[in-house]
Amino acid sequence: MSLACPIVPPPLAGAEPHRFLIRALSTRDAAACAVFTAHLDRADIRLRFGTSHCATAYFLPGRDGTGERVTLAAIDSAETILGILTLSHVSTNTGEIALIVRSDQQRRGIGRALLAHACAVARGDGLRELFGYVLAENTPMLRLARRAGFAFSRWDEFLVEARVTLSQHASRDAG
Ligand SMILES: CC(C)(COP(=O)(O)OP(=O)(O)OC[C@H]1O[C@@H](n2cnc3c(N)ncnc32)[C@H](O)[C@@H]1OP(=O)(O)O)[C@@H](O)C(=O)NCCC(=O)NCCS
Repeated sequence: MSLACPIVPPPLAGAEPHRFLIRALSTRDAAACAVFTAHLDRADIRLRFGTSHCATAYFLPGRDGTGERVTLAAIDSAETILGILTLSHVSTNTGEIALIVRSDQQRRGIGRALLAHACAVARGDGLRELFGYVLAENTPMLRLARRAGFAFSRWDEFLVEARVTLSQHASRDAG
């Protein structure tokens, strides 16, 4: 994954050409976030939050327990939100990430593009490391993270911790 993020990734073989850009969300995007939330399957919500409950507020910027929460969204030309990645600054060096792609938009490169963009944003923010917790049965996310250069360690009975050190030079990050 190149950190020169493909803001407009090439269409995948066999898929409709699908164009989107990635930008930070603001509270003005609450209505679009509500539409996004309404298009999430229960199973996907559980994989993201560990529960079947999901509130639009989780996808908007704000503050988490430890620090600032930035949300990056993949958005198409109709301003439809296709996927959202949350980046929480947990210390001056470290950020925690979590992402979810709209259930009817998966496997089109959106998750990969969001993760690449988040690494670039995190580096720009001066972070040196990103981590996230993934349910052990979440093969799609584990494969995505592995391909992005994350290493894994078992956190507990249910969760795997995925962690990556951000290199000084974008081109050195895994692709
Ligand atoms: C995990 C998730 C974010 C992936 O997003 P996506 O946009 O569908 O992923 P991409 O199309 O960018 O795929 C990138 C890579 O991820 C892996 N991947 C994605 N979906 C996969 C699937 N269903 N099965 C196996 N691997 C998969 C593949 O390695 C894929 O690369 P490839 O298509 O070249 O094989 C998405 O499935 C999702 O939102 N899941 C529910 C919420 C969730 O699990 N969030 C993570 C919690 S931290």
